[in-house]
Amino acid sequence: MPRLCIHAGEPGPTIDRHIFGHFSEHLGRCIYDGLWVGEDARVPNVRGWRSDLVAALRQIRVPNLRWPGGCFADDYHWREGIGPRDRRPRRINAHWGGVIEPNTVGTHEFLDLCEQVGCEPYLAGNVGSGSPAELRDWVEYCNAAGGSLAEQRAANGRRDPWKVRLWGVGNETWGCGGNMTAEYYAHEYRRFATYTRDFPNAPLYRVASGARNDDYHWTDVMMRECFKGPIGGSMMQGLSLHYYTVPGDWPPRHPATGFDHAGWKSVMALGWKMDDYVRRHRAAMDRYDPDAKTALVVDEWGSWYAVEPGTNPGFLHQQQTIRDAVLASLTLNIFINHCERVRLANLAQTVNVLQAVALTEEGAGRLVLTPTWDVFALYLAHHDAKRLPVFCDAAHARHEGIDYPGVSATASLAADGAVNVTACNTDPAAPAELAIELAGRAAKLADARLLATPVLTTCNTYDQPRAVTTRPLAGARVSGSTTTVTLPPGSVAALRFA
Ligand code: AHR
Repeated sequence: MPRLCIHAGEPGPTIDRHIFGHFSEHLGRCIYDGLWVGEDARVPNVRGWRSDLVAALRQIRVPNLRWPGGCFADDYHWREGIGPRDRRPRRINAHWGGVIEPNTVGTHEFLDLCEQVGCEPYLAGNVGSGSPAELRDWVEYCNAAGGSLAEQRAANGRRDPWKVRLWGVGNETWGCGGNMTAEYYAHEYRRFATYTRDFPNAPLYRVASGARNDDYHWTDVMMRECFKGPIGGSMMQGLSLHYYTVPGDWPPRHPATGFDHAGWKSVMALGWKMDDYVRRHRAAMDRYDPDAKTALVVDEWGSWYAVEPGTNPGFLHQQQTIRDAVLASLTLNIFINHCERVRLANLAQTVNVLQAVALTEEGAGRLVLTPTWDVFALYLAHHDAKRLPVFCDAAHARHEGIDYPGVSATASLAADGAVNVTACNTDPAAPAELAIELAGRAAKLADARLLATPVLTTCNTYDQPRAVTTRPLAGARVSGSTTTVTLPPGSVAALRFA
């Protein structure tokens, strides 16, 4: 029987709660008809933001929300989204379906959403089609206490500065954000970042647009030019990495549901590639910054499948199953395992787009939470807790030439002294019996929950909204310091030892 040994007396680095962040782009039905329903909608809302969804995001204590893109960010001009809504320009959303972007949701509305959710905003600045002056002014508009921009903000309804801390300086500047080379962008970053200014009590956390997948050259150049460059490390608090799990070809044709065991394994194997990417980008950063002052920010990750039949291909609307929940668990375990360097991350995207935590019916209809939402609920205990060393001798699986863990686990020490363990079984067919041994601490199993379903392709639907959800994990056997549990095929568990 595989053993999971947890060294409970050796707390390590803090697991930054910001790795549990989310992402909401002006894409498909994420903002409009997802989060934003408008003040006149029949569905309950507060100043236009859908209340049941806000409540669901509060429940998983979303720490930060990235906005307005994505690719949309480098086509977005913040001044078009302030002032009276009926006078805001209507633009074409060139990246996502060519639909009209009414600019109804702008800076004031989005920052109101963040206050309702209780999370930090993470604003993505426009480098691709913007200017340093435009980004400088957006920072000043949000964060300055006085001056003309602060007066304009007050005239638009907000007297006190928001003091937005998290700022992205461009997005995917190697692609939709300007098709730049690493060398060119590194110099652009230095120029743009120079004008993103700290205001009193509002120091900025600037995140540079980083590599995609295995582009270690990009990370090397950015670290060389922007961390150790003439401006010093303080201009780049984070460097991003984007990696999506895309089974099959591009554009994605693999279905979100109705997969077979090979399709399941493909997602596990490709998802696990994140570990290698993080490890090697981390090594590239270590060469310039051995003390990990600059964070690796995985501000886009998640599964990417074929869109649901009959939906706009530009809207990236996909269903979810427990396969995505296990992928989320596997990925969060990777981030936690690298939490010395990975201190901020964003799942793409909050609602109705890609690996969403919620789906809504068109026309502001019913809301359903996905199994991925349940994983974020199971991982709440890890927010800002201390990581504990974990050794697991479960066998690795192999698919498409990639080795990945059969069982992946994380343990942490909470402020109240509890030891929290999360583990997933990546096998779609066989249960995993696991002997969990707590070394260095006497502690009793206080709670155990399980996310599992007998049929892995089951979805949460508007008619059966909680077909896949958590329930108490039954059958745990305790003997001395060892607790034995059985994880059903394709499942995620969370245990608390007090
Ligand atoms: O999340 C969807 C898109 O994927 C984002 O807009 C872009 O940054 C990435 O390529």
